[in-house]
Amino acid sequence: MYETILVEKLASRVGLIRLNRPQAMNALNATLMRELMNALKEHDAEPDIGCHVITGSEKAFAAGADIKEMATATPVSMLVGDPISVWDELKKIRKPVLAAVAGVCLGGGCELAMACDMIIAAENAKFGQPEINLGVIPGAGGTQRLTRIVGKAIAMEMVLNNRWLTAPEAAQFGLVNHVYSVETYLDEALKLAAEIASRAPIAIRIAKDCVNKTYEMTLNEGLEYERRSFHFLFSTDDQTEGMDAFVNKRPAQWKGQ
Ligand code: HXC
Repeated sequence: MYETILVEKLASRVGLIRLNRPQAMNALNATLMRELMNALKEHDAEPDIGCHVITGSEKAFAAGADIKEMATATPVSMLVGDPISVWDELKKIRKPVLAAVAGVCLGGGCELAMACDMIIAAENAKFGQPEINLGVIPGAGGTQRLTRIVGKAIAMEMVLNNRWLTAPEAAQFGLVNHVYSVETYLDEALKLAAEIASRAPIAIRIAKDCVNKTYEMTLNEGLEYERRSFHFLFSTDDQTEGMDAFVNKRPAQWKGQ
């Protein structure tokens, strides 16, 4: 059904999407980005899925935007075609999205991983923003999300001078959650995703939304937003169930209502 991605719905309530352009190190061309967003939206609407995982191959998560596709672009084609606008759809995905990253994670690939909610890395993962070598700069969050995550000093070095981070460095700078062997990183990411997918669905959505609001609001606005969201959750059956289960020392049965 898809040309550039492989899609699976796992019994563990995880939607797995593999970027699949091995001939181009999973470079993110327009077709891949469109298919990725369509698959995410489809899984997001699926009640049997509680968490998304995006992965690539052991060699490449993604080597960036497709340079061959971009090479002949003009300001007008960029403005009119607006190829980066498809990325905005990722912000509307309500269930958590994990990136399971092995191999190169460069340019738009690094930006895609950073736009996810968590990153699980293999020991061979390498993160970089090499756009400066092409005479351009990152265009989908590489100067913004990266700086907020790793801080100005490291971001400047990565964006201005093509410094790549190894997986342990990425963990040290807070870019990735965990580092595992190449053999186990995907299983570990799927295990974490399954655990998240087993939790109270509405609270998970609201929790993701509130954490992401940190990037868009002042502290006072964010605290107010969090408080209103907390109040709202007292209208759900899952709140009644979760607290009753705690009091009666039994496991909770979430309904997502
Ligand atoms: C198109 C790419 C590609 C890319 C690799 N390939 N990266 N094609 N766009 N981003 C293709 C190569 O042309 C080659 O195909 C094949 O994949 C294998 O790549 P090699 O270079 O032969 O492999 P290797 O020597 O192992 O080097 C891997 C690499 C290198 C380090 C990842 O390919 C590389 O530096 N790629 C470019 C990385 C980059 O600059 N990324 C930023 C892109 S700009 P053929 O057919 O030639 O053999 C960007 C802006 C985002 O991301 C803006 C917002 C959307």
